[in-house]
Amino acid sequence: MQQPILEAKSLVKKFGALCATNNVSLELMPGEILGLIGPNGAGKTTLIQLLSGSMQPDSGSLYIDGKDVTNKPAHERVSCGMARSFQVTNVFPELSVLENLTLALQACSGSSFRFWQSRDNDSHLKERAYDLASKCSINGNHMSNKAASLPHGEQRKLEFALTLASEPRVLLLDEPMAGMGPDETVRLTEFIESLRGKYGILLVEHDMDAVFKLADRVAVLVSGQIVACGSVSDIRSDKRVIEAYLGELQP
Ligand SMILES: Nc1ncnc2c1ncn2[C@@H]1O[C@H](COP(=O)(O)OP(=O)(O)O)[C@@H](O)[C@H]1O
Ligand SMILES: [Mg+2]
Repeated sequence: MQQPILEAKSLVKKFGALCATNNVSLELMPGEILGLIGPNGAGKTTLIQLLSGSMQPDSGSLYIDGKDVTNKPAHERVSCGMARSFQVTNVFPELSVLENLTLALQACSGSSFRFWQSRDNDSHLKERAYDLASKCSINGNHMSNKAASLPHGEQRKLEFALTLASEPRVLLLDEPMAGMGPDETVRLTEFIESLRGKYGILLVEHDMDAVFKLADRVAVLVSGQIVACGSVSDIRSDKRVIEAYLGELQP
């Protein structure tokens, strides 16, 4: 059997008396899109923080591609192949799109001190920056524009491209559609669809249409616990899910 790219075992996180993450276990397979839904306050962001390493669990363990990263800080999880998007944006607004991309690629390849490197390397880096831009369907005409001058949708794509610069295998997306209008949501959904199979993606999202369109499987979190996990059709028809969460959305 294939090994999960990300595996959480019995994660627990308490804030005083509140158990925000209550014994959560989940598996994300390579190339799979796992949707995570749940009402406000269910513990979705807390779980993403435990997975990314920006918060430590009280107990439980976490593995990336079979490697125990439970006690590893966030940056070491990144070097194990994990990337988190849409929480902290790492765009330099005053730099051009190309400069943003080359900086991110350099930072990830550990070659920031490159004053001694040849121009061949520079052109190779530029080529990689263009590849990354095209992978994220960033308009090529924007490459020398300041990041701050980009339309909102293109800025989102640039954020995505910067996240992908580290060549992650696991992407944690916390509400990528938040604050977007319907057209942008459709475009971002198509974009995430274009990443299918290339990354294991944990997609936390309020927009149910987007989750049900994209997810291979959906996990439902209620009061810090996963109450159901299965295919989109299983989840749509699961009685506990309808009671806990989807009730008001059913016809
Ligand atoms: N740093 C914190 N300190 C205390 N309580 C917190 C903290 N972060 C989250 N919580 C609480 O934990 C619960 C889960 O929050 P959160 O993970 O943000 O849920 P969601 O993202 O599903 O809306 C909520 O009751 C929230 O108030
Ligand atoms: Mg949240």
